[in-house]
Amino acid sequence: MRHKESCAWFEELYKNNYNQSEKIPWASMRANAHLLEYLQKNPACEKGCKPKAIVIGCGLGDDAKAIANAGYATTAIDISESAIAWCKERFIDEDIEFLVHDVFELPSEMIGAYDFVYEALTIQSLPPQFREAIIRAIASLLAPKAEMLVIAHVKDESSKRAGPPWPLVQEELEYFIHAGVSLEALEVVQEPSHISDQKFKALFRR
Ligand SMILES: C[S@@+](CC[C@H](N)C(=O)[O-])C[C@H]1O[C@@H](n2cnc3c(N)ncnc32)[C@H](O)[C@@H]1O
Repeated sequence: MRHKESCAWFEELYKNNYNQSEKIPWASMRANAHLLEYLQKNPACEKGCKPKAIVIGCGLGDDAKAIANAGYATTAIDISESAIAWCKERFIDEDIEFLVHDVFELPSEMIGAYDFVYEALTIQSLPPQFREAIIRAIASLLAPKAEMLVIAHVKDESSKRAGPPWPLVQEELEYFIHAGVSLEALEVVQEPSHISDQKFKALFRR
C-alpha cells in the first residue's frame, strides 16, 4: 500500500465532520499539555528574534496557536485540506501559516529551515511500514541546533488492538538518531487511554 492510501481517511473524516470537533477523536480543542510545558521553559525570546517553528499534522490547530502565542513564527501543515480550512477559520486573527502539505512531499525550502519542530500523534497514525520514512521526513526539517518535541503513544505489547493508530516501540525512536538528530531527553508519561496507557515525550536536537 502507498502512504497516500493510508492517509486518505483523514480528509474524509474532517470533511464529513466539518465544524463538529466532537467527531474528531483526537481533537481536544486545546493545546497539548506537554507542548505548553516545553513552551514555558523555552519562550521564543530566549532563542533570538522570532525563531521559526513547524507543526506536523496540525489537526485543528490548537498546538500551532500555542506555539505562535509563545512568540515563534509558526507554520502548521496537514495533509487534509478540510483540516487546514478549519484551522484558518478558527484562527483567522492569528499570525499562523496554515498549509496543506503531505509530510512525505515537502518543498525543498522547508528542509533544514525550522528552529523548533513539533509532532504529536502523526507518526503513529500511519502503518508501521512508513515509520522510518515519516521520521526521516520530519527530522529533515530541523535547522542546525534546532529542537524537536515528539509525542506518541507507547505500544502496549500485551494488547491485541489493531491500528489505526499504531503506537511506537522505543527502538523506533532510533530512526530519528539515524536521521541525524540526537535524543536529549526521553520520558514515558502515564496517560491512560483506549489506545495505550503511556506516551513517549521525546526531545531531540540537531
Ligand atoms: C491523529 S491526528 C493528530 C493531530 C494533532 N497533531 C493532534 O495532536 O491533535 C494526525 C494528523 O496528521 C495528519 N496527517 C496524516 N498523514 C499526514 C501526512 N502524510 N502529511 C501531513 N499530515 C498528515 C492527519 O490529517 C491528522 O490531522
